[in-house]
Amino acid sequence: MQVKGHIAIVTGAASGLGAATARVLADAGAKIAAFDLNEEGATQTATPLGGRGFPVNVADAHSVETALARVTAEMGAPRILVNCAGIVHGERIIGRDGPADLAAFARVINVNLIGTFNMMRVTADAMSRNEALIDGERGVIINTASIAAFEGQIGQAAYAASKGGVHALTLPAARELARHGIRVVAIAPGLFGTPMLMGLPDEVQESLAANTPFPKRLGHPEEYGRLALHICENGMINGETIRIDGAVRLEPK
Ligand SMILES: NC(=O)c1ccc[n+]([C@@H]2O[C@H](COP(=O)([O-])OP(=O)(O)OC[C@H]3O[C@@H](n4cnc5c(N)ncnc54)[C@H](O)[C@@H]3O)[C@@H](O)[C@H]2O)c1
Repeated sequence: MQVKGHIAIVTGAASGLGAATARVLADAGAKIAAFDLNEEGATQTATPLGGRGFPVNVADAHSVETALARVTAEMGAPRILVNCAGIVHGERIIGRDGPADLAAFARVINVNLIGTFNMMRVTADAMSRNEALIDGERGVIINTASIAAFEGQIGQAAYAASKGGVHALTLPAARELARHGIRVVAIAPGLFGTPMLMGLPDEVQESLAANTPFPKRLGHPEEYGRLALHICENGMINGETIRIDGAVRLEPK
């Protein structure tokens, strides 16, 4: 689908990959509904793009249902959803002080996996009532996995499990939503230069970049955004997780 004139919801839009995706989609003519826990950040992303920011906790059913109702009433029905909201947490299963914190594991699953599903279920329901475009298409949903879904490192059990879940639900969701004309695709980024990664010490960032075969650098958030735009525009891409990673494969630690 050409994105021009369509409403695109981007979660995690206050920062990093979400903010860059909002800019790329807006440049292509989409109207941006920026969702984030950080309302001020979402508004700072959306306002210069002519869009709107909304305070949303993607892991909360009521928060997402309320925000979707507002988008539909105030902007129109969404045709594009890009789920970028997410958190990281590193902790060994057996730490120095004993077993890992179960609440921390649950928190990561709750935001990254349940949050993605929560956004998908409510938005797909709204999209299913859209008028059909070329090929009967009514909407496209792009979720963010990670290469940690496939080669999670030591200490990444929770994060890798959450992203593995995002990868695993791509195909069944695409199969089910096909009859509604909604595509579902996941992007598995490698190492991208966002606040999530830029918080790491310089030498860690340099070593991450050095381990990337080509190009030897962190990904630019806009490169993620341009892939999201391409997925919107290319109707044959469906039910697949696409890596964008400069051929990097994560080591055990
Ligand atoms: N940066 C990378 O290298 C990288 C690699 C692989 C995957 N990812 C994934 O890409 C996505 C975006 O990451 P990023 O690097 O842009 O991170 P980021 O920390 O820069 O941005 C994440 C945004 O999500 C928001 N958020 C967190 N919890 C939320 C919730 N419950 N409800 C609504 N918003 C919430 C935060 O406020 C923040 O604005 C994440 O899912 C992350 O796991 C990132």
